[in-house]
Amino acid sequence: MATATAKRPRVMSGMRPTGNLHLGHYVGVLTQWVNYCETADAFFEIADLHAFTTGFSDPQSIRDARNAIVVDWLAAGVDPKKSTFYLQSGIPEISELEVLLGMITPISWLERVPTFKGQIEALGTDIATYGFLGYPLLQLCDIAIFRGEFVPVGKDQVAHLEFAREVVRRFNYLYGGGDSILVEPKAMLSAFPEVPGIDGRKMSKSYDNVISLSDDEATTTEKVRRMITDPLKIRRNDPGRPEICPVFHLWKFVKPEHVPIVERDCRSGALGCVQDKSDFAEALNEFLRPLRERRKMFAADEAYVEKVIAEGTARAREIAAQTLNDVKRAMKLS
Ligand code: TRP
Repeated sequence: MATATAKRPRVMSGMRPTGNLHLGHYVGVLTQWVNYCETADAFFEIADLHAFTTGFSDPQSIRDARNAIVVDWLAAGVDPKKSTFYLQSGIPEISELEVLLGMITPISWLERVPTFKGQIEALGTDIATYGFLGYPLLQLCDIAIFRGEFVPVGKDQVAHLEFAREVVRRFNYLYGGGDSILVEPKAMLSAFPEVPGIDGRKMSKSYDNVISLSDDEATTTEKVRRMITDPLKIRRNDPGRPEICPVFHLWKFVKPEHVPIVERDCRSGALGCVQDKSDFAEALNEFLRPLRERRKMFAADEAYVEKVIAEGTARAREIAAQTLNDVKRAMKLS
């Protein structure tokens, strides 16, 4: 009889090791990862090669962020015993697959992925490298090498997944002989795909508006105190518009049961923004406290973190080798 595990869908996702994770990562992506540990056969990648596409001049910080990102995953409750954590650069099969799929990937498909032009506009032409152009192709290889069916990601990654599906279809059409050698992946958006930062824009390291999982409680409180709210609610008794307030939006996942009360009292003018933010800072610190305690514990145990990465990478590599074999056979390269 087949085990339940054998029927679990394959889930694959990854993050670039580029610094400490923040509340947006936690709410938008990591909570989904935690759930997939129970329901899927999940692979979670430290995308260190992807980090080079923009951070190539600073390899040391990519190296340092490798363990730090895993500490954040563990702190968030992602369970390496029920999933596979691995290092992208530790699986050369991914890079080999990128060369092979590069042969059938039109440059125009890569150029029209919105992040390509967008990131160059934001970060300058220094990052306009061959590797950066290939970013979505490398991402596709991350997914395809494990035959990932579902890919939990943020909204900004949806275009990459569309691209991935097109290349997979082209591969199967050219070399599959009627079979699907590679699997078309689907993006899975969380209920909170876009978490606002303290300035009301999307929470993102590049906007310098994040609440980090590693921030201490005083820093968190101070950041919440500086958060913007409804600009037309000037005095405490002015009626507010919760639907445009980032603090209100954050309440929804930090303490959902409190949302109707905030909504009622903000609209009526009974609740002022200063009080709301002070209540929220307290709720947020309470929400993050267990996570931050686990974070400290794992940060102090480097040997454990390295063991998790090494074991996961070894396991992932076996699966990657099988897929690469199938691909090479289909392309008559074996
Ligand atoms: N591009 C993703 C991001 O910036 C990170 C990533 C790399 C990824 N490889 C992946 C996400 C594979 C999902 C699947 O968030």
